Amino acid sequence: MASGIINYSLDSIRFYLTSAQKRKTVWLFILTLVSSFMEVIGLASLIPVMLVAAEPGGVQRSKYFGPVYQAIGFQSESHFLLLLIVLIFAFFLVKSLFSVWVNYMQARFTAEVGISIIKTQLNKYLNLPFWYFNDFGSSSLINSALSVPTAYVSGVMRSLLTFFSEMIIVIVIIIGILFYKPLLLFVLAVILLPTAILTYRVLRSRSQKIGNRINELRPISYAIIGDLFNGFAELKLANKQKKFEQHLIANQNEVQNLDAEAYLFSLLPSKMIEMVAIIGVLTIFLYAVFFPGSSTNLVALVGLFAAAAYRLMPSMNRILTALVQLKQFQYTIENLESYRDAKYNESPHPQQLPLSFNKSIAFDKLHFSFPGEQNPALRGVNITIRKGEKIGFIGSSGSGKTTLMNILLRFYCEQQGAILIDGQPLTPQHLHAWHSIIGYVKQDTFLMEASIQDNITLGASEVDTKRMQYAIEQASLQTFVSGLPEGINTLIGERGSKLSGGQRQRIGIARALYKQTEVLVLDEATSALDNETEREVNEAINKLSHTDITILIIAHRITTLRECDRIYELSNGEVIAEHQYTDLMRKIVQLN
Ligand SMILES: Nc1ncnc2c1ncn2[C@@H]1O[C@H](COP(=O)(O)OP(=O)(O)O)[C@@H](O)[C@H]1O
Ligand SMILES: [Mg+2]
Repeated sequence: MASGIINYSLDSIRFYLTSAQKRKTVWLFILTLVSSFMEVIGLASLIPVMLVAAEPGGVQRSKYFGPVYQAIGFQSESHFLLLLIVLIFAFFLVKSLFSVWVNYMQARFTAEVGISIIKTQLNKYLNLPFWYFNDFGSSSLINSALSVPTAYVSGVMRSLLTFFSEMIIVIVIIIGILFYKPLLLFVLAVILLPTAILTYRVLRSRSQKIGNRINELRPISYAIIGDLFNGFAELKLANKQKKFEQHLIANQNEVQNLDAEAYLFSLLPSKMIEMVAIIGVLTIFLYAVFFPGSSTNLVALVGLFAAAAYRLMPSMNRILTALVQLKQFQYTIENLESYRDAKYNESPHPQQLPLSFNKSIAFDKLHFSFPGEQNPALRGVNITIRKGEKIGFIGSSGSGKTTLMNILLRFYCEQQGAILIDGQPLTPQHLHAWHSIIGYVKQDTFLMEASIQDNITLGASEVDTKRMQYAIEQASLQTFVSGLPEGINTLIGERGSKLSGGQRQRIGIARALYKQTEVLVLDEATSALDNETEREVNEAINKLSHTDITILIIAHRITTLRECDRIYELSNGEVIAEHQYTDLMRKIVQLN
């Protein structure tokens, strides 16, 4: 009945296990098997001891204990019983220690696999082609990279382990009963099996729905709470905090209620089985009352039934709960399996080659369309830039400037044409070499909640102070940094909340310089700035003009491009004109 979900889960786990881990699984299975046998043997050993202890002289009459009693030469039955009890206790002690150790091994194993799943998920999302990556919000990425693997470990892996360990116990008990009293097995099967199947059937589809719905709701919660805290100032001013809060609470309300329902479902199997076991006992009693002929036999049967059911119940219960959990956490299997296709994977080429950049960068008849888009974003862009030149790019919004730079940065790959460095096409094998010499400053510079120094080095453990000094000077940050009591170690707040727009941009520039960038891409670095801060950033850019760094500047404001050797104008993915700064200024002045 449940083989579908079991096979599905096993297939999913198999994908993550290394061959060493697969061997380990076999070992764990054997250990679990041994532990289950000890469990059942321990319980079974109580029955004969109780039986002989109950009647005087029972030990000597017993066909198992009698010979042992004689052989060792005991004088009193109570001493013999005491020895038996000590032995049983010792066995239980060993058994418990062993089973705790097996559980510990299982727990360590799931933790190990959990880590490898998180790694796989991280690699998957970090190697997504940029345009797919951009489709995900950070909330759904956090959900998939951390929450889902964690839920998978507890909901799928642990449930599977429970399922198999308890199955072994149940099977061992059943085999025991089969030898001991086949009729009892029949009674048990008739009563317990249909209940178990029915309970599972009732709970499974609802459980799966609960899991899927929680998986939908969780990222939404993350997204709302992110907006609520990130947009603190804006939302407060707009008097919208309450509205976001209500939205979040409504979302959490559903999550919490579903969680509660799932918890209830995890309790139901035990209650159901308990009820049915009691009905079984009572039915046998009633039978004994109404058909008194074979009563002694039946009373014994009732006792045995109760004993067997008592031991079987917790196991059956755990098996059912595990199955229901597997259904509830099926969504994690589906989530982990998504985006495994090769087209979603752009992991760097294993054999990286060195790259020489001494002469030029050329965009050679570059064509690019976004997947699924009708109109190409770039059509036949042909530009050659000599090393050390400063080149400007202008054009209306959507003309393809950022896309062109994303191709140069290798976030996108052209469909036709090539980027030539010193005449050699840039291939995936040059990625590391190319990324080590190209820097990028965007309109919204990425800043970490860390010190200025860490933001410039992106968290390097060892800092080259000379290079740092150079970067700070060249980025015109010197006055600002020396005015701070803690200088370069000053914390800048989450996303640089303690910095002005101009300062953020200049940290971005300092970062590129510290990296010893040879090619610097500035994408609308001054567009969002007011006139005064724009001048500060322009000052930094102009300083850079006197270095031998090759600079490509996309600018909204023409004044940013004053030091450029040439300015290309893009429209609709094509270069439509080439300007000089002075000509361009003259034209604009004439237009006004
Ligand atoms: N991830 C994307 N998926 C689909 N189309 C995109 C994507 N990014 C940009 N575009 C489209 O590509 C064109 C060029 O965009 P872009 O290079 O950002 O322009 P610019 O930087 O010049 O304003 C625009 O028509 C834009 O809508
Ligand atoms: Mg742009």
